[in-house]
Amino acid sequence: MIITNFKTYETATSDKAFSLAKIHEEVAKETGADIRVAVQAVDLARISHEVDIPVMAQHIDPVTHGSATGHILPESVQLAGGKGVILNHSERRLKREILEASIKRAKEVGLVTVICAESPEEGASFLEFDPDFIAVEPPELIGGDISVSTSQPEIIEHSAKLIGSEKLLIGAGIKNGEDVRIAKKLGAQGVLLASGVTKAENPKAVLMDLASGL
Ligand code: G3P
Repeated sequence: MIITNFKTYETATSDKAFSLAKIHEEVAKETGADIRVAVQAVDLARISHEVDIPVMAQHIDPVTHGSATGHILPESVQLAGGKGVILNHSERRLKREILEASIKRAKEVGLVTVICAESPEEGASFLEFDPDFIAVEPPELIGGDISVSTSQPEIIEHSAKLIGSEKLLIGAGIKNGEDVRIAKKLGAQGVLLASGVTKAENPKAVLMDLASGL
């Protein structure tokens, strides 16, 4: 699996988010790869209605219908066509009790949960919440040029040992098919990435290369 987190990159906002998501759809269709996108909340409805790949939210709040001004309601994500949610990204860290409550709410509305962790140990500590996936991303490598696969492969092996391969995703600095191949070989199901695609001159070529690593 490849998940591209659109974050708030300019190339991945509004109309550009739609075009970039369409490119992901094209590559998913051409390669048969499981490719998903995590888009900004305001872009989610349009993209999930018009792009035929799983679309995720980058966050939800553990609120219910009613008095929760300014929050992201899990039901709204689901009704807008969202299929999953990223929680606890290192740019959007949550207190443990909020994370637990958010995972519970996500499950109640049927969203696939991808929980981010900054280390293998932290990732393993989230197993008690039974998320669908745990994405281990060393924060110092996020958005950089060096991938976790090439610079710290031992983190992938250690994560696979502590978390198990079934739920494990790896991210930070992932840029090409070789990074994906290493991550898979060392025990991950797939990768979570952002800048390798959102900053690429030719995102389709990058995605084709990434997909070749699955
Ligand atoms: O959510 C993915 C992420 O934090 C990794 O970002 O830019 O290093 O691929 P990047």
